[in-house]
Amino acid sequence: MPPLTVDQLHASLGDPLLGSIGFLNEVMGRYPDAVSFAPGAPHPSLFSEIDIGSCIRRFIAHLVHERGLAVSQARRTLFEYGPSRGLINDLVADTLRRDHGMDVHSDSVVITAGAQEGMLLCLRALCAGPRDVLAIVDPCFAGVTGAARLLGVPVVGVDESPEGVDLDSLRKECRAARLRGQRIRACYVAPGFSNPGGSRMPLESRRSLLDVAEREDFYVLEDNAYGFTAPMGADIPQLKALDTGRRVLHIGTFAKVCFPGARVGYVVADQPVQEDGGHQLLARHLAALKSMVTVNTSPLGQAVIGGMLLEHGGSLIELSRTKAALYRRNLVHLADALDQNLRDTHPRIRWNHPEGGFFVRVRIPVRADMELLAVSAEKYGVLWTPMSQFYLGSAGDYELRLSCSYLTPEEIDEGVRRLTGFLRKETLHPHR
Ligand SMILES: Cc1ncc(COP(=O)(O)O)c(C=O)c1O
Repeated sequence: MPPLTVDQLHASLGDPLLGSIGFLNEVMGRYPDAVSFAPGAPHPSLFSEIDIGSCIRRFIAHLVHERGLAVSQARRTLFEYGPSRGLINDLVADTLRRDHGMDVHSDSVVITAGAQEGMLLCLRALCAGPRDVLAIVDPCFAGVTGAARLLGVPVVGVDESPEGVDLDSLRKECRAARLRGQRIRACYVAPGFSNPGGSRMPLESRRSLLDVAEREDFYVLEDNAYGFTAPMGADIPQLKALDTGRRVLHIGTFAKVCFPGARVGYVVADQPVQEDGGHQLLARHLAALKSMVTVNTSPLGQAVIGGMLLEHGGSLIELSRTKAALYRRNLVHLADALDQNLRDTHPRIRWNHPEGGFFVRVRIPVRADMELLAVSAEKYGVLWTPMSQFYLGSAGDYELRLSCSYLTPEEIDEGVRRLTGFLRKETLHPHR
């Protein structure tokens, strides 16, 4: 039999985008001695505090005392298939109501295998055919563009502005789509510190975005992965909390505030969908799709996350308090170290100073591609992520992304020292 070739498989498999998330998770294994600014993953020291057994016991006690299950039934819940919509929907809805003032009923929540699955389900449900286009803020998290590729959903980029989304650019894309006989069906945004851009939407911009969504008739996919890193007392209401027109599908993850290995995220989709004279919430349809993707999110993962939430009074803010402080400290530390070390390296090396999130982006005068990354890792012992992975076009070819989340301040210092040596040599005397 002749061997399979990539062009005989789904077109998305020929797209380098599909390798980008795996790359981030695997590159460190290839260079174990390098200081890694690559992954946007939680600091591993935080995992030692998590007692998985006690979280599970806490969740089982909740099932017994609050939901009236017998102990044997509650235990069985963890071993069996479960409802596709999830097991901890009520806990998540309570948390979002209490912490963020969102008017959320548990029926409008679907628990997903990470935010990643949430994005896939939202796109599958909303994008009914080739006319339906996803708008993303360019640059953006590769997971959502990758999910769109998998589903064959066309994607257009909208400019990022210091306030998150350039609304003029978004309106222009809506008009352009109409002229092509298409429509912007959804716009993906990360208003609480974007990955990798680092922008945060002020309240007025959030309101304006909802206004544009209403006028142009599209849905907003709100991804709040990094909102918890906002400076203390500087909270801004989430889009979903401002969403009187039910334009927002709110996507959340426990990967950054708990741990990514649990693979637990969620979607709030409270849009009524008319059907046979009645209606069902969009969340119900997302759960139906999910039943054909991952069937249900691992009950064990949900039990651990549910237990962690309960341990912290059902509050994500409480649960993430120490982590948020650690990441804020690391981000400031990284930006300060860059200020001190990179300042006189090269006049065309520039970096941003985001107020939250995990990432700093650095513009350099040479191409920040895989070849340069290999040089950086092998000769200088420092890893970063090429920003080109996050752009639809070539705008990120001369930028790299540094993540502060996976390192201690001492490791950040060492990493920036190595990075400075690397940039000094490779930007003045490039290897190619
Ligand atoms: C913006 C953003 N959303 C979602 C995710 C992924 O979330 P999950 O691990 O829950 O799929 C990430 C992970 O890096 C991210 O950066």
